[in-house]
Amino acid sequence: MLSSRALKNVQQLERPFRFTPTPDYDPQTNPQGLISFGMAENVTFTLDSVSYRSSATINSRLPGIAAAHLDKVLSTHSPINPEHVFVADSPTSLGNILGFNLAERGEGIIVNRPVYGRFELDYGVEAGVEIVYADTTTDEAFTPNSVAKYEQALIEAEQRSIKIRAVLLVNPHNPVGFNILIEIESGRCYPSDTLRHIARFCDRNSLHLISDEVYASCVFDSGDPDAVPFNSILSLNLQGLIDPNLVHVLYGFSKDFASGGLHLGFLVTANEQLRKACKMVLRLHGASQAAITIGTAILEDQDFVQGFLAKSQASLAAGYRLVTSTLREAGINYMKGGWVFFAYRDLCVSALIWQTRNAGFFIYVDLSPFLPDINCSVQEREFALAQQLLDEGIFLHPGEEHSKDAGWFRLVFSNDEPALKEGLRR
Ligand SMILES: Cc1ncc(COP(=O)(O)O)c(C=O)c1O
Repeated sequence: MLSSRALKNVQQLERPFRFTPTPDYDPQTNPQGLISFGMAENVTFTLDSVSYRSSATINSRLPGIAAAHLDKVLSTHSPINPEHVFVADSPTSLGNILGFNLAERGEGIIVNRPVYGRFELDYGVEAGVEIVYADTTTDEAFTPNSVAKYEQALIEAEQRSIKIRAVLLVNPHNPVGFNILIEIESGRCYPSDTLRHIARFCDRNSLHLISDEVYASCVFDSGDPDAVPFNSILSLNLQGLIDPNLVHVLYGFSKDFASGGLHLGFLVTANEQLRKACKMVLRLHGASQAAITIGTAILEDQDFVQGFLAKSQASLAAGYRLVTSTLREAGINYMKGGWVFFAYRDLCVSALIWQTRNAGFFIYVDLSPFLPDINCSVQEREFALAQQLLDEGIFLHPGEEHSKDAGWFRLVFSNDEPALKEGLRR
């Protein structure tokens, strides 16, 4: 006999596509293998020798070096105090830790949508915290109007007796592969205005604001002019906006350093009580000493970091261009810089006051015209299309982003070029 929470979790295994199949394509050794367009991994990187040892002690140099790195990457308003950097084995684990420490079982965290769908697992599986979706469309999720949807989600959740404890943002966003929008007239970074509205909303309602910034350096030139850096919540002057004890930033090595297998994540928070509570569960989520040693060596070598990030951004730009030009040729709609680009109809519906710079490794693709015409729910039609794609050796994760719009899939383009080309051909 298992506990009721274990039985509840086990039900997730029965849900189709809850867990992703492992890609095994190799142009030489396994040309028929599965290509995954659904897994947000930057370069394929195998370091089998990096092992997991949860009981490792924290190398005292790492928080300070990480703070200095994050000051640069996040353009922080004031330097991060190394004592505010908490090291664990991954942003995924840190989601679990935050869920456990900020909320009771059955309480909720609001996210806008579409959004990275794994949060339900990260915050839910052990901590039992509900992810509550604010009813935003893709466009409005980035605007101050989203706050009205957060308000609505808060009220509706409380009517269902779900106490909301936090708002969780993904910035740069996943799955919408853009978020860096600037207002041409003023040159001011548009998301910072939205961030301010959301911060005030959190402060007003005594909610924590978790900002997941794991894609902070995955910002690349998509060919559009007037690029601007993204705005971390820590780049804002929080004074008068929100109690700094409510603001928590997540970062890690999986995206910016293409090394998810290293299992190294950081929580930045000024909240001392929260850090102490996190420390208590660290024995279950500690980074391995090997990861800490490697992470420290990498962050200490800033020449390497700058070179690596530049190379990574160039290859993301190349992948983005390859995929978007192929989608355009194929007449497939995708979300481009805050507007939908309808190549097929040669019609560009856009808010022309915005210019863009892409971030992340995703293109949010509209496959709704290809949903099978069968008499069942939208979710089942998305699953059926995903199965057809899988039968052809392509994995795209159906329904995972909790979008309100049917048939949108997140295409991850950080595969290396041969796999990308073969996957697009298929
Ligand atoms: C927004 C976001 N947060 C967190 C994670 C988890 O990162 P990690 O695998 O390093 O724990 C991911 C992974 O795709 C992600 O996209």
